[in-house]
Amino acid sequence: MREATGRRYLMCEPTYFTVEYSINPWMDPSQPVSTELAVKEWTELADTYRRWGHRVDFIKPQPGLPDMVFAANSGTVVDGRVLGARFRASQRAAEADHYRRWFLDHGYRDVVMPAKINEAEGDLTWTGEVLLAGTGFRTDPGAHAEAQEILGVPVVSLNLVDPRFYHLDTALCVLTPAGPGRRTHIAYYPEAFSPGSQRVLYRLFPDAIVATPADAECLGLNAVSDGRNVVLPMEATHLADQLINHGYEPYFVDISELRKSGGGPKCCTMEIRDR
Ligand code: ARG
Repeated sequence: MREATGRRYLMCEPTYFTVEYSINPWMDPSQPVSTELAVKEWTELADTYRRWGHRVDFIKPQPGLPDMVFAANSGTVVDGRVLGARFRASQRAAEADHYRRWFLDHGYRDVVMPAKINEAEGDLTWTGEVLLAGTGFRTDPGAHAEAQEILGVPVVSLNLVDPRFYHLDTALCVLTPAGPGRRTHIAYYPEAFSPGSQRVLYRLFPDAIVATPADAECLGLNAVSDGRNVVLPMEATHLADQLINHGYEPYFVDISELRKSGGGPKCCTMEIRDR
């Protein structure tokens, strides 16, 4: 069995969640959305983290920002250094400053806002060794070099090619970060990446879990792992079996409402990696 490590997360209740604009293929403003159900799904997610002993902080949701629930898009925190966000869509632009202020109000001194379009953990994933950085739909490739300079970590750029997987965290998930005596272990969906990026991923992570189309298409890779427990959408059943075979404990959640916006468990969960 694998070992969990204590995590700290930042989340935002979907109090004002709706789908009133469309900035990815999942979003259909003509489809009904239940804010109440979204809050219920989100609450179950936050309660699960706390049951596992993780620390969860909450930022106040803001009216008029229906996607603010997707906390992962508003900051990348490595060793207590915070790199904020700059959204591609004007509808989400104002979220970045609310999160910036949250960090300043909570004692973070090292908070830098990017000059380039940067959708934070949506496209930037810390493996414990390198920052995997997606581009193709949202985050500007120039933001990768900027992240490397500001966070002081090596960056590996990856090209996303399928609009359904518009953020890196819809196609790849770090299950175990590298640490003393431990190699990085990831799961990903190769077809979401360009041929060159697929080769990079295979070279770096030959022992990765490779997801099926069905598991990717329910946003199964938008999972959150603490090294042992893995929260994932309940439709991702084959991925759950693969996780069990690799010594993890999958935990299913219902994300039906949040998925109408193209989001899943990881999108709702920013990881704060303090020093
Ligand atoms: N509706 C949001 C958008 O398109 C969903 C963001 C999901 N977040 C994520 N980390 N993938 O921007």
